[in-house]
Amino acid sequence: MIQTVRGTRDILPEDMPLWRRVEDVAREAFRRYGFSEIRTPIFEKTELFARGVGEATDIVHKEMYTFIDRARADSEGESLTLRPENTASVVRAYIQHKIFADKSPGELTRLYYIGPMFRRERPQAGRYRQFYQIGAEVMGSSDDPAIEAEVIEMLEWFLKELKITGTTLLINSVGEPASRAAYLEKLREAIKPNLDRLCADCHHRYETNALRVFDCKIESCQAVIASLPVITDSLDEASREHFGKFKAHLDARGIAYKVNPRMVRGLDYYTRTAFEIVGNDKLGAQNTLVGGGRYDGLSETIGGPPTKGFGFAFGLDRMVMSLPEDEAGRLRAADAPDVFIVFLGEAARDHAFNVARDLRAAGIAVAMEFEDRKMKKAMTAAAKSRARYALIIGDDEVASGKYGLKNLTAGEQESLTLDEVIAKLS
Ligand code: HAM
Repeated sequence: MIQTVRGTRDILPEDMPLWRRVEDVAREAFRRYGFSEIRTPIFEKTELFARGVGEATDIVHKEMYTFIDRARADSEGESLTLRPENTASVVRAYIQHKIFADKSPGELTRLYYIGPMFRRERPQAGRYRQFYQIGAEVMGSSDDPAIEAEVIEMLEWFLKELKITGTTLLINSVGEPASRAAYLEKLREAIKPNLDRLCADCHHRYETNALRVFDCKIESCQAVIASLPVITDSLDEASREHFGKFKAHLDARGIAYKVNPRMVRGLDYYTRTAFEIVGNDKLGAQNTLVGGGRYDGLSETIGGPPTKGFGFAFGLDRMVMSLPEDEAGRLRAADAPDVFIVFLGEAARDHAFNVARDLRAAGIAVAMEFEDRKMKKAMTAAAKSRARYALIIGDDEVASGKYGLKNLTAGEQESLTLDEVIAKLS
């Protein structure tokens, strides 16, 4: 029996109402906050991610699904990659289609996306090799931190609407590239005498991108990590001011947050503001729900004009896992058909097909099976379908044009014409 590949999974029908709900609420949040949807390809040139996300990140260094596309007679094979994230692609699309061209100065472009991403990470609960993200990117010439607070406010509304509680907003500033370079020097100096107390991965991080040492989860490294200088103490003046304004905007909106000076995010394009929303204890070890930040300069890195950017993405998989049990139960129950048609006998069966068609044309979700069964068996099938009502059609009902509509939870039954049934179920 051929099964799914490690780290991938089927999302089965019983879970789809939960996925759809998260997507629907996200789309509603995006509508209210003025975001338009964009869909970019699942694979892109490897170079886009290598340059955009950064060669020294774990994502590019060891997690990408990269392949050489078959060579044509006139060219060498091209290196392509299944997208590990979507910010680089959205910025590429923004540049490629000159989405900025018809904007007035200061006007921002707000885009959102929903789709699968691919990372060759070690699979575990909440971590998959094909996972789904919902994300948003705001691009333009303005880097006003007001937009950062507005986007986070939108996320707060979204979490509240989904009844997800117990989350924490963590914020930090990772500064400008220049101040970060000076900080990295300091950091490396502080790590060097402690290298023998750090794991092999940390050694590699020290060599390639010392900032990533803060991502290490290994217990024995934590004492050294806690003693290292933090980036927030080495910020350039402009970044410090920006961070101050960002916090003031959050305060003004009554949004609670914690500054975590060791949160550096796993992608290289961030400048200044970085944030994460950490989920509640339903998530276990993989508890980061949302990650995002500012990426002024990413456009230039991939060959575009100077552009400011800010955005986030969350894991749809983890968001679904975070839904409260009672909410998940309610969503599953609401996914049932409105009515299950029970017919008795051959003539009633033919008549029932037309009734089903008319109900469906009126927008009602109808379940019906084709086998002619005894009343008791048919009612068992109706209950199993979880429909709210059963519509009973026998020879008498066909003759009178009045059908038995039974409420399957309350148990009561009424005799109604087709129009009355439609009015009741609509
Ligand atoms: P990221 O932190 O790499 O950021 O991913 C964002 C979220 O995607 C994570 O917080 C997590 O919920 C989910 N996620 C990541 N990897 C996996 C996985 N293997 N399995 C399940 N869920 C996962 C980005 O991707 C940036 N592009 C976010 C961004 C947008 N920054 C600015 N704009």
